Amino acid sequence: MDNVTADILAICGSTRVGGNTDQILQYAKEVALQKNANLSVLNLRDFNISACGQCGDCNYRENPCDFHDDMLKITERMSRADGIIYAVPVHGFGMGHLMQIFIERAGVCYLRFDRPLTNKVGGAIVTGRRYNHQHVYSQLVSNILLNRMIMVGSGFPALLHAGKTNEAFDDLEGMDSVRRMVERMVDMVSVMKRYSRMTNDAFLTYNEANERMISENTLMRLKESLI
Ligand SMILES: Cc1cc2nc3c(=O)[nH]c(=O)nc-3n(C[C@H](O)[C@H](O)[C@H](O)COP(=O)(O)O)c2cc1C
Repeated sequence: MDNVTADILAICGSTRVGGNTDQILQYAKEVALQKNANLSVLNLRDFNISACGQCGDCNYRENPCDFHDDMLKITERMSRADGIIYAVPVHGFGMGHLMQIFIERAGVCYLRFDRPLTNKVGGAIVTGRRYNHQHVYSQLVSNILLNRMIMVGSGFPALLHAGKTNEAFDDLEGMDSVRRMVERMVDMVSVMKRYSRMTNDAFLTYNEANERMISENTLMRLKESLI
């Protein structure tokens, strides 16, 4: 597409092909298209993603995870996008397992080293019949901010009340919040790109130092000053 204003990647954590999350992402795609932006959907169910294993040393190791699955491929694709949307159904009062496994693996194995998602624009969509959307939404927002992405306020959060397939389309307020979110994400990416082009500079400082290292150093200095 010529003159694409933004390239948004939606990570879909639904197991149900053609279900509410898929349908809402199709709608989000149309909204993006109307703003001359590209929204691609990456369905986690189509990839080989192992759950965290027994080692338990992710927090301390200096190299990415030893597992050879599709995680690296996915995180590299995320690194190339201007914006990331996490879209997931509520399962058992929490996050659907595909997304939970993905977030655990992506964070501690890959993203935490250089924070490659820094300054991308982030968004979250939660689908569920009735209970605990907000809880799942909060988890996604924490993850977006942890990865130093930028969340653009767009009104009510993009929460969809939908049980059976097609019911998401009946939740007009939910749909409207998705539309607003996608439009504001695209606008924010456009502003950032325009600024970078005009100034030949990044929109915000890209501080690649890992905050975990910073806090360890700070802690060390604090300890030394107390001795
Ligand atoms: C195993 C399972 C657990 C679920 N748990 C909840 C829940 O705790 N709260 C809720 O509101 N909906 C729950 N639902 C309903 C789904 O969130 C809802 O059907 C949603 O639209 C599914 O999205 P999908 O069509 O993209 O799969 C559950 C569905 C399944 C299959």
